Amino acid sequence: MLRELALHILDIVENSLNAGATRVTIDVNEDTPADRLTIQVADDGRGMDAEMVQRVTDPFFTTRTTRRVGLGIPFLKQATELCNGAFSIESQVGKGTTVTATFQHSHINRMPLGDLPNTILALVVGNSHADFVYRHRLDERSFEFDTRPIKAELGDVPLSEPGVIEYLRREISDSLAQIYGI
Ligand SMILES: Nc1ncnc2c1ncn2[C@@H]1O[C@H](COP(=O)(O)OP(=O)(O)O)[C@@H](O)[C@H]1O
Ligand SMILES: [Mg+2]
Repeated sequence: MLRELALHILDIVENSLNAGATRVTIDVNEDTPADRLTIQVADDGRGMDAEMVQRVTDPFFTTRTTRRVGLGIPFLKQATELCNGAFSIESQVGKGTTVTATFQHSHINRMPLGDLPNTILALVVGNSHADFVYRHRLDERSFEFDTRPIKAELGDVPLSEPGVIEYLRREISDSLAQIYGI
């Protein structure tokens, strides 16, 4: 079992990238009055049909599968179920996929979010062909990090440039610190 939600997010986004996504939106919504934490990853990858969605969500649903099915999705689903939460996948072949995981925010079994800035950074820098939007809301405070305007501004300067990586790391951690009021 993974111990940080950031690592689950990494896994889910890697699925998106493996599905050929060029644009991935990561939404983290912490609603403390409702005591909910929602993580949503939406992509424009190749998508899945209904049968495939069922198969990847519950790998033991069909006894005979011709192709190997992983456990990234089942693990995240199980994590939500252990936290009074819910899990869903909405997908359309040729259009994209949206994975939604919700948790009771205060649940004793709820994993910490973990190192979101470095997780997002690794995704952004390691997959410069794709664009990412990372939105994080904590009650009335929120921010949005979008790679598109940043890339436009950088022009020919690659994301892997050490100075750029440091800038991006600061940008994300400062925004996160701000909504947490620290
Ligand atoms: N966003 C997605 N778009 C298209 N297919 C997906 C997506 N996410 C998962 N899948 C399919 O579901 C399978 C299972 O995913 P997962 O449980 O994370 O295990 P693994 O990544 O190890 O295969 C993937 O191999 C892929 O075929
Ligand atoms: Mg996976």
